[in-house]
Amino acid sequence: MKATAIANANIALIKYWGKRNKELILPFNSNISVTLEGLNTVTTVEFDKKYEKDIFILDGKEQSGEQLERVVKTLELIREIANIKEKAKVSSKNNFPTAAGLASSAAGGAALAVAASTAAGLNLDKKELSIIARRNSGSASRSVEGGFVEWLKGESEDGSDSYGKQVASESHWPEFRIIATILSSKEKKVKSRPGMAKTVDTCPYYKSWLATINEDLEKVRKAILEKDFSILGQTAEQNAIKMHALMWTTIPSIIYWLPETLEIIKLILQWREEGLECYYTIDAGPQVKIICLEKDIGEIQKRLKEVKGIEDIHVCKPGGPAKLIKDQLF
Ligand code: PMV
Repeated sequence: MKATAIANANIALIKYWGKRNKELILPFNSNISVTLEGLNTVTTVEFDKKYEKDIFILDGKEQSGEQLERVVKTLELIREIANIKEKAKVSSKNNFPTAAGLASSAAGGAALAVAASTAAGLNLDKKELSIIARRNSGSASRSVEGGFVEWLKGESEDGSDSYGKQVASESHWPEFRIIATILSSKEKKVKSRPGMAKTVDTCPYYKSWLATINEDLEKVRKAILEKDFSILGQTAEQNAIKMHALMWTTIPSIIYWLPETLEIIKLILQWREEGLECYYTIDAGPQVKIICLEKDIGEIQKRLKEVKGIEDIHVCKPGGPAKLIKDQLF
């Protein structure tokens, strides 16, 4: 009753920021991401009578509080479906900084859903796995699949139609790249969960945001299928800045940016004027992710070297789905 899975992080091109159901983690709007090759979480889960309680170890440290509670909730869900009683040991390793706006929760939630369900003896399909991952962390519903993925908001009250559905596979657009800049690897002050709840409750523009989403979704879906880089980049960038406008106008304001975040945004706008076509997107953290094509990677990397305050960069292709692997962490 032991299994190990690996899942990639993802970055949203159309963002999720607000739940219509907090318990089941159902979003107000559908959203679209690209799975990122190389930014991943590996998770081993073992259900066994020898464990008196559920244990969660992340990057070698035993977790308590909220981190542990989230994992326990997912284990409870799986125990219920599999009709087992055994407690579990869960060990996870991220190959990138946790909770710094790099969607570590997405890779973690997807790896946990795949490893734990397999360890419990279940053989679930991608939709069922995505629903379990969603209940761990919303964006995790998109990391079960590879390539470009839409988390359908769904209509039903029980969440049975709210899951990550592939728009195009990881091999569809091989030139597509995301460059993740790491400006600070410190954990953020306002986590996504309370942050988005505050926005829904207090931001005067939340309804206006929702009113623009369908058009953004349509444009991005079409741009992915037609590999129209300009439309994809423009729409994703506009959608990201709209989400940050919501965050800034939440009461109290949620500002995830560092001075370097704005500096890179301004550089990207300038580079575009100079004919270097790339776009930015930013999640709940200071990191700027640059949306670009393979042919411009060298030039962008060269220009980023001149920018102060960048601790690290990761160049990512569209990544594959979450999968089981043989090497166990314990
Ligand atoms: O799923 P969470 O709780 O990690 O929230 C993700 C929120 C954003 O990253 C800001 C947007 C998104 O769609 O990934």
